[in-house]
Amino acid sequence: QKENSVYTIGFSQCIGSDLWRRTMLEEVKMELSLHPGAKLIYADANGNSKLQVKQAGEMINKGINILIISPNEAQPLTPIVEEAYNKGIPVIIIDRKTASSAYTAYVGADNFQIGKMAGEYAGEALKGKGNIVEVMGLPGSSPTIERQRGFNEGLKKYPGIKIINQVYGNWLKKDTEEQLVKIKNSLTNVNAVFAHNDQMASGSRKVLNDLKLSEQIKVIGIDALPGQGGGLQMVSSKILTASVLYPTGGKEAISTAFKILDRESFSKENILQSLVIDSTNVDLMKLQWNKFSSQQKDIERQGTLLEEQKVLFKNQQIVLNVTVIT
Ligand code: FRU
Repeated sequence: QKENSVYTIGFSQCIGSDLWRRTMLEEVKMELSLHPGAKLIYADANGNSKLQVKQAGEMINKGINILIISPNEAQPLTPIVEEAYNKGIPVIIIDRKTASSAYTAYVGADNFQIGKMAGEYAGEALKGKGNIVEVMGLPGSSPTIERQRGFNEGLKKYPGIKIINQVYGNWLKKDTEEQLVKIKNSLTNVNAVFAHNDQMASGSRKVLNDLKLSEQIKVIGIDALPGQGGGLQMVSSKILTASVLYPTGGKEAISTAFKILDRESFSKENILQSLVIDSTNVDLMKLQWNKFSSQQKDIERQGTLLEEQKVLFKNQQIVLNVTVIT
């Protein structure tokens, strides 16, 4: 790592307000703190692809050294990402993809595999027999397409299981609730709901409960975030039956960015690991998370202490100089 390199990193986020992406940004900042001098330009498109195109364009014009982008929808964001790439700005795609291979590196889990794991889990949990409703993400965003295909693949081994209905929840709890109420007749026949993320899974459970349907209906989500309101907690409290871990990749995006900028070797595809979390392993996951986050806090405390010491040292130097002069 080159100490004095002052890089400007542009980070274009499709929607910044949910817990998953707030966690991603925290990871980004934590990893960036190891690279003093680097500058971050951050923009949140609030789920609006047009706005994200504009924001990414502004970043390119400002003269960033590298672009990290999570495209809201694949097609609308493809031209601007290609433009950056063709101008010689390295591009790291994180989580959601464009429709093109014009990028420098990808960081994220394999959404097809994640869907497949969810399908296999559902097949096992239903013992090979039953009806499923699938709540999908935003139509044009790449994880929706990949998770849906993967889920189908995972269910192939279970011919006794039928997907009886599908709705788009657009990654949002509110939209999910609205869409599921519209198909409430299907829900009365359902044994499991598979939602493409935990926010939509929690909305699904709410609708099932509001309709006074059985608590035995399995609800499977994706993300499995730690902390308040996260999927781990919802698995613990049985709101969700299971959730497939979807790591945010914030830390890996920044470490990959510095490898690219410092001209070190790096992989084009950086695929993050995943696993299914249910009642059998959720406690272990929470325990590990608590340990990790307390270590993280220690590191932060040490950082502040170091800064205080530096200030103290500087002041003593001043006093020393003054003493010498007089
Ligand atoms: C957060 C989110 C996650 C989901 C991912 C897919 O904005 O909806 O819940 O796993 O995006 O890109």
